[in-house]
Amino acid sequence: MNRRQFHQLLLAGVAVELPSQPQFSARITDYPFQLGIASGNPTSSSVILWTRLMTDTKTFKPLEQPNIKVHWEVYADSHLQQLVAQGDSDALADYAHSVRVRVHHLRANTYYWYRFTCATFHSSLGRTKTLPEANSQVSLRFAVANCQNFQHGYFTAYQQIALENLDFVLFLGDYIYEYGPSKSKGMRYHLGPEAKDLAGYRQRHAQYKADKMLQQAHAQHPWFFIWDDHEVQNDYTHVKSTVAEDLSIEFYARRKSAYQAYYEHLPFYFDKPDFANFQLFQNLLYGQSMEFWLLDTRQYKDPFACYELAMKNYRVLSGCEELLWPRSMLGIQQEQWLDQSFTKSTRPWKFIAQTTLVHPGSNDPTFPQKKFVDGWSGYPKARQRLIDTIARNTSGQTIVLGGDIHASAITLLRKSSAHIADKPIATEVVTTSISSKGLHKREAEYYLKNPDFVYFNSEDRGYSVFEVTEDTLVLKFVTTPSPVNLESKFSVNALFELKIGGDRPHKIQVLN
Ligand SMILES: [Fe+2]
Repeated sequence: MNRRQFHQLLLAGVAVELPSQPQFSARITDYPFQLGIASGNPTSSSVILWTRLMTDTKTFKPLEQPNIKVHWEVYADSHLQQLVAQGDSDALADYAHSVRVRVHHLRANTYYWYRFTCATFHSSLGRTKTLPEANSQVSLRFAVANCQNFQHGYFTAYQQIALENLDFVLFLGDYIYEYGPSKSKGMRYHLGPEAKDLAGYRQRHAQYKADKMLQQAHAQHPWFFIWDDHEVQNDYTHVKSTVAEDLSIEFYARRKSAYQAYYEHLPFYFDKPDFANFQLFQNLLYGQSMEFWLLDTRQYKDPFACYELAMKNYRVLSGCEELLWPRSMLGIQQEQWLDQSFTKSTRPWKFIAQTTLVHPGSNDPTFPQKKFVDGWSGYPKARQRLIDTIARNTSGQTIVLGGDIHASAITLLRKSSAHIADKPIATEVVTTSISSKGLHKREAEYYLKNPDFVYFNSEDRGYSVFEVTEDTLVLKFVTTPSPVNLESKFSVNALFELKIGGDRPHKIQVLN
């Protein structure tokens, strides 16, 4: 209803609901875009733009104001000459004054530039890109990142990611760490105690988002996301806390707060957000040659096998019969969705993005059953179901993407890891952490004894880049020695190539 129609109705004596009072952004007197801007979850015709208004960069206290109107603009060029779309959006007080806009009617496979305006302040200029049409023949260049413990190092990798020519960034979990400030000497410290409630998670996200290097990577590329445990609590499963005294009902409320803060700080858009049930897993088509499945390995995960024993033994189990129970990492509904969708796919490159190492590490089924319960090793039946799903689709090439272990790794996944003469059914690529500390050297030595481990390096921090054409995938690990300083220099530490129909990635260059 436009203004004229509104007045005509009023004159005709028709009761009409008054439009909500415009909010005055004049109350904002300090620069409100301290947390940067971001875009994400693009389709071939839309993208989500994000910001959160924040002026306090010391303690990151939310604004004490009602909803605030923010203007947004999308341009076809970086000089802001060709305006494509604009509008006003409310920074809702209920969502910590975060702003999210899904911009529609965009052209496929196209760069756009965007900015927000609030009161007299402009945000910095962001760049984003839509996905190509699902039937188009295109190449793809994307980066994978995960595990950014603020206390373990600087986000210098993101400065480098911002410079990369990418179609998108794929983030595989541990966007924040929930812990309180480290007691040992670190490079920088978390504000506030362990995040446990909405205020705590909001403050933690805001502290991470205030990092200028992370802001650069968000402003330059659209991102896709899955989460792992630290967005809520180390090693949690479903609604089960890893603290014995926590009741599920209390932990459920904690998880809800964590999911809400996650939503408030990332470019997601739900019409009616329900933080008790956050639909994260999704399927993406990228042109006619590539397809992605983004999995949620936390929200529906069954509790650990032999729970009490596992907790006592630092999550490592031996001789636990419950490991053989048909427990799930993904939840049955997500497993079925994946199986139905994956087995139908005819695209040559299939990427399953999940959080952690899928290879069991040992190929010996009689290996003294020492299992790390939080990973797929703690869910061997579920892992076999995932492997069986992958094996049922014999077309093209499957790449399983993972993170979590703070190491770069390439492994060969087989129908049965005991039969190493069999042709691998997928290649697994684990990307090292942005900043979180790496595994002990001994673990690296152990893995490298396994012929299925094509590459393993837990010494370096960084990210990976995938360049995918119709028939070739080139994979680069771009890393720096640990820990990451502000002056750290990143370089391509390992370079592999994989062809459609090829058995294994072919080493082009490995520097260490
Ligand atoms: Fe991590």
